[in-house]
Amino acid sequence: MLVNSREMLLDAKKNKYAVPQFNINNLEWTKTILEKCNEMNLPVILGVSEGAIKYMGGANTVVGMVNGLIKDLNIGVPVCLHLDHGGSFEMCKKTIDAGFTSVMIDASKYPLEENMRITKEVVDYAHARGITVEAEVGHIGGSEDNITSSSNNATLEDCLEIAKTGIDSLAPALGSVHGLYKGEPNLDFETMKKINDNLSIPLVLHGGTGIPDYDIKKAIECGINKININTELQIAWHDAVLEFVKENESVYDPRKVIGSGREAMLTKVQEKNRLFFGL
Ligand code: 13P
Repeated sequence: MLVNSREMLLDAKKNKYAVPQFNINNLEWTKTILEKCNEMNLPVILGVSEGAIKYMGGANTVVGMVNGLIKDLNIGVPVCLHLDHGGSFEMCKKTIDAGFTSVMIDASKYPLEENMRITKEVVDYAHARGITVEAEVGHIGGSEDNITSSSNNATLEDCLEIAKTGIDSLAPALGSVHGLYKGEPNLDFETMKKINDNLSIPLVLHGGTGIPDYDIKKAIECGINKININTELQIAWHDAVLEFVKENESVYDPRKVIGSGREAMLTKVQEKNRLFFGL
């Protein structure tokens, strides 16, 4: 069933674990993630970036595909369909109207006051329709959707301010980046813990790819309840497909070519679920 993220994240906060957000890119991605999470009997957040929505045809197509898979595959676990890094009120509205159950408004490129104004507008629209909202403060840099930007860490004061907009969860920039790290990740666990001690809403860690397991565990201890994974699944899929294509140059059936990355993705989803849920 499609649900918003409220219950799953509050349970994660109460019981000190993190729910994964796996970003989806196409039908095969969505099907593989849903099947593995259903088999493990775990809730899941499907993250869809603006670029991925455009790639798949539009927000209505994404909602139709996810709802169809939930029905046809008898997916019984809670599934949240979440807009990742919505860049404007209009984009959040569009996805909510299409049937997304959660949105991230990322107005982190603006000064805090403007970030808060846009975020509040989204919260008002979303909450009136039972939809949850995630916001970002500071700025999480790196590379996503072919956009590269530099990081700017959040402060406790910024977090306390933006929480006043009524958001359901918060992604403070604390050293993680989207895409691959240049060198070792350097997460500010001290500020993370401070934010968690002073805020009652669940915290989100973006840029989950490339963060070592011990730092993921530490982040969960410091109050992280949702972790986003995109690049790592793409790499797992790519490596497997590359090997398949090298060995099967004459295979042209797209189901076989794209599908040759499925096992690697199933393994990765299982590995992340075990780590994030502490299984
Ligand atoms: P990675 O691409 O580093 O896994 O980050 C994903 C993410 O944070 C999506 O918002």
